Amino acid sequence: MKTLKSILLLLLFVPLIKPAPPTQQDLRTISDYGTDNFEETLYSHDYEDKYLDGKNIKERELNEKTLQLQKDESVTLLPKKENEEMPTCLLCVCLLGSVYCEEVDIDVVPPLPKESSYLYARFNRITKLTAKDFADIPNLRRLDFTGNLIKDIEDSTFSKLSLLEELSLADNQLMKLPVLPSTLTLFNAKDNKIKSRGIKANTFKKLSNLTYLYLDHNELESVPLNLPESLRVIHLQFNNITSITDDTFCKANDTRYIRDRVEEIRLEGNPIILGAYPNSFICLKRLPIGAYI
Ligand SMILES: *[C@@H]1O[C@H](CO)[C@@H](O)[C@H](O)[C@H]1NC(C)=O
Ligand SMILES: *[C@@H]1O[C@H](CO)[C@@H](O)[C@H](O)[C@H]1NC(C)=O
Ligand SMILES: *[C@@H]1O[C@H](CO)[C@@H](O)[C@H](O)[C@H]1NC(C)=O
Repeated sequence: MKTLKSILLLLLFVPLIKPAPPTQQDLRTISDYGTDNFEETLYSHDYEDKYLDGKNIKERELNEKTLQLQKDESVTLLPKKENEEMPTCLLCVCLLGSVYCEEVDIDVVPPLPKESSYLYARFNRITKLTAKDFADIPNLRRLDFTGNLIKDIEDSTFSKLSLLEELSLADNQLMKLPVLPSTLTLFNAKDNKIKSRGIKANTFKKLSNLTYLYLDHNELESVPLNLPESLRVIHLQFNNITSITDDTFCKANDTRYIRDRVEEIRLEGNPIILGAYPNSFICLKRLPIGAYI
């Protein structure tokens, strides 16, 4: 029995442990959340997958180089040309459309160069995001506010960002979600205090390219409604979800419907006993992870 269990465990874990060289970002994430290694491995694995999907590889190499530069004080003087008059770029590093403002103790979003595409503002003390913060920065594609103290987000904050693909609000103090742009492919709001009443029924409905959704470690009592077909990964573990319906992931009135893109649904760490809902997963290729008895 014990051997069987270990074999099962091995089978479960082996594909996740990919000997990818850890980037500085990953290392930091892991050391900051050391208690949650399994999760982080999964998460960076997801990220890795996505990055390696193709067109982002070059950009990633560049990001790594910049992070390397950032660590080396003597080089901070280098990236100067483009925004010489921007005070933000004295405090942060501005390079080729990316702004790196990590661990610099800011409590508001600093004024950004107009042409910015990527903002990394992780591990600061930002408490609030407003529409004004991004009003004149239409080219933003990725925003990362992981590890701040964000409690309030004005509803229209992201609505004019028509190119935004990745938004991370992980590890903040959110109780509800703002309007999200339909262009998102990745949305991460894990480790907040979000309750189900803080997510509107249509929040995810029109996000027809959304592939990765991370809402684990919140206070959700139910699975958000209208999850788009495009989703590959849905993380809802460690919430307060007590029940689901046959319409949550599938279609109760259409037994031939298959939700074929979804590869992973995590529901462990919720009060729900998944085995009590045998008809709720018939459209899935793989059963959600969670408690069945
Ligand atoms: C989804 O992605 C496709 C291809 O990149 C793009 O043409 C389309 O506009 C995107 N849809 C939304 C809602 O952003
Ligand atoms: C979970 O839900 C129950 C009621 O269903 C409630 O009593 C409890 O306080 C909730 N726990 C958290 C952490 O929100
Ligand atoms: C299934 O139910 C939905 C919503 O209740 C409805 O829009 C749809 O037409 C129904 N489909 C079939 C095949 O009955």
